[in-house]
Amino acid sequence: MKKVFKIAVLPGDGIGPEIVDATIRVLDIVSKKYNVHFEYKYGLVGGAAIDETGDPLPEETLRICKESDAILFGAVGGEKWDNLPTDKRPEKGLLRIRKELQLFANLRPAKAYEPLLDASPLKESVIKGVDLLVLRELTGDVYFGEPRGREVRNGERVGYNTMIYYEHEVRRIAKLAFELARKRRNKVTSVDKANVLEVSGMWRDIVNEVHADYSDVELEHMYVDNCAMQLIRRPKDFDVIVTGNIFGDIISDEAGALTGSLGMLPSASIGERYAFYEPIHGSAPDIAGKGIANPIATILSAAMMLDITCKLPKAARDIEIAVEKTLDDGFRTVDIWSVGTTKVGTFDMAEEIARRL
Ligand code: IPM
Ligand code: MG
Repeated sequence: MKKVFKIAVLPGDGIGPEIVDATIRVLDIVSKKYNVHFEYKYGLVGGAAIDETGDPLPEETLRICKESDAILFGAVGGEKWDNLPTDKRPEKGLLRIRKELQLFANLRPAKAYEPLLDASPLKESVIKGVDLLVLRELTGDVYFGEPRGREVRNGERVGYNTMIYYEHEVRRIAKLAFELARKRRNKVTSVDKANVLEVSGMWRDIVNEVHADYSDVELEHMYVDNCAMQLIRRPKDFDVIVTGNIFGDIISDEAGALTGSLGMLPSASIGERYAFYEPIHGSAPDIAGKGIANPIATILSAAMMLDITCKLPKAARDIEIAVEKTLDDGFRTVDIWSVGTTKVGTFDMAEEIARRL
């Protein structure tokens, strides 16, 4: 019997719709080859939702997400909505999905692809062989901490946020970090700012406590500023990096850029019940609608979906291999193009990948 998966599709803004369409083209092939069926339900999110409904995350969209096995997400945001207050911005749609669906763990793998080594800003000898995973806590920290706000005190404007973690939040992400490391190279780097912040001191204590159950996994602690530096100097030494929401936001962009293009980087955000798959790059409004965006990050996010939600690791691996082959054969979108390779658009890139499946 055919397995059926309900997929909520939220293309969002900018290049979101193009890269999502291209990815669905690849999923169509997967569904034929692996005897699965994907039932797609589309929802509005971000600026597109603001324009139609006034809300970056309409009730209807949230409902579609809650009835799904997985959510495939494009990107949100754009200049048009940049002047709205924080609470009404497209990004708020994304943040609310994370919170409402309790997607506490964000997996952001960054891998150096052999054919793209010269796209990295780092020397080939430094970047070759990099294969790391940033595991970012996604529903806590200064992103959601209260109190937060802007006000006037004694005639002066102040803005403030609260960096806060609860023990259970640290415990569950630490546990997942060790579990994931066991399936990789057995090493966890926990990143914090324990030399300055109380919340980090507590984070570190709890990670150490959880580690007692995973003594087979190597654990090191690193301050976030040092981590930012070591990622550039010796990225190969990292396996799983586990960290809080704000440090993870920053470190994951850095880790991503190491490998050459943000256009290559997938992510998965998972909780107890729901799973959400999204490329790391944003909505790239400057190239939206031109059909030139790189769909690989979204296609690889769909591969993570096949692995984690659909329990089809073989299909996931096949997509990764097809992506590698396509790059090997010289096909490039403009963001990763170099002299001597073949420039293709969003759909042709997806087509080439699909053909190699
Ligand atoms: C990310 C993005 C988001 C974040 C924005 C768009 C709210 O930068 O997913 O890394 O800060 O988490
Ligand atoms: Mg970010």
